[in-house]
Amino acid sequence: MSAPTAATALPAAPLAPGRFALPQPLGTQTSYLCGHSLGAMPVAAQGALETARLQWAQSGVQAWFDGDEAWVGRADRIATQLGHLLGAQPASVRAFNHLSSHIHALLLHFGRPRGRRRKILYEAGAFPSDRFALHSVATLLGLDPDTDLIAFGGDGAPDPAPHSLVDEDALCAAIAEQGEELNLLYWSGVAYLNGQAFDIARLTQAAQAVGAHAAFDLAHAAGNVALALEDWGVDAACWCHYKYLNAGPGAVGGLYLHPRHHAAGPPLAGWWGHEPQARFGAGEDFHPRPGAAGWESGTPPILGYALLEAALAEHLRVGMPAVARAGHALCADLAGRLRAGGLTLLTPPQAHGAMLSLWAGDEAPALFARLRDSGILGDLRPPGIIRLALAPLYNGPADCDRVCAALLGG
Ligand SMILES: Cc1ncc(COP(=O)(O)O)c(C=O)c1O
Repeated sequence: MSAPTAATALPAAPLAPGRFALPQPLGTQTSYLCGHSLGAMPVAAQGALETARLQWAQSGVQAWFDGDEAWVGRADRIATQLGHLLGAQPASVRAFNHLSSHIHALLLHFGRPRGRRRKILYEAGAFPSDRFALHSVATLLGLDPDTDLIAFGGDGAPDPAPHSLVDEDALCAAIAEQGEELNLLYWSGVAYLNGQAFDIARLTQAAQAVGAHAAFDLAHAAGNVALALEDWGVDAACWCHYKYLNAGPGAVGGLYLHPRHHAAGPPLAGWWGHEPQARFGAGEDFHPRPGAAGWESGTPPILGYALLEAALAEHLRVGMPAVARAGHALCADLAGRLRAGGLTLLTPPQAHGAMLSLWAGDEAPALFARLRDSGILGDLRPPGIIRLALAPLYNGPADCDRVCAALLGG
């Protein structure tokens, strides 16, 4: 399963107390429940940034090559950290560019028609960037968006609301029905609006059983739910690092490619993906590095990498299984209490990570204001959804109690 479903004990407190600067936009007692949007800053970020700043100030361009902390090796170090978090070998993962550019690149590569296989099955309620990318890339690839892009949502009935839960049995049946016309299943790990966590292993198997590839947008899954991308045989995935992975606003994105795709090379070539010894060579031929590193295009953002390394270290210190279990338990606890209090939740009772989505319809702005007045910051999304994330490194049961007090009274 892509998310832990067994009941686990509620953590007594945040798992990394004192290691995050908790934003206080609503006053000194703010419960910051926006880890699904912009995660809190690790305290270590400041020292990491300062180190990079000093390297730049003191060594200039030589900082790329000199000393144990040479910038040129930074991406490899990060790949090792990421591999641990996502269940992949370092060569399969890379941090660079932004999530939306990874979506473009993955769709350009895995969406290329293969004989009769032209169709891409995707989530009707996908995030806007995914839907825009699907349509623009389909046009570039000569696909017909009307017939080759198949949006699936809810139980497959026409026009599901973007926040409808997806029936995975019906989705697997739709995959089987497309059969040998299906080229790619493109799905999310955790849905951004309702928090539904998908069984990535099952969906991958269903796609591959008909000869299609399976690629995932893990923006809301990375750092939130337990992932074993390589064991599950996932073909490709991408994610961002500024939500549950706490690497800061606009942090670089991440890309994963299964080893069976390591030799393929990227659809868009850049000098940083070229074999390092020949980067400054005069030839026109592009020789990509094997694995996800070959998909890098330009110079890595070293200041951003400093923040990313510091943040990943916080997750590794606690361990992803423990983070995932605690996030699930906190979310389950809060969801259970809110449901018992008569509120409507979109998030399914078992298949979720740390984020819960409350359905409040026209009442949503008033309910959201009540939360804010009580010092609780989540976010409000049309058409009447309040999202609250219990990021377990810095949120705990006290945050759940505050939400219950604000929404249920007493
Ligand atoms: C599910 C999902 N996909 C894609 C994106 C776009 O990411 P970026 O702006 O980093 O390219 C987001 C941003 O929040 C997202 O939530």
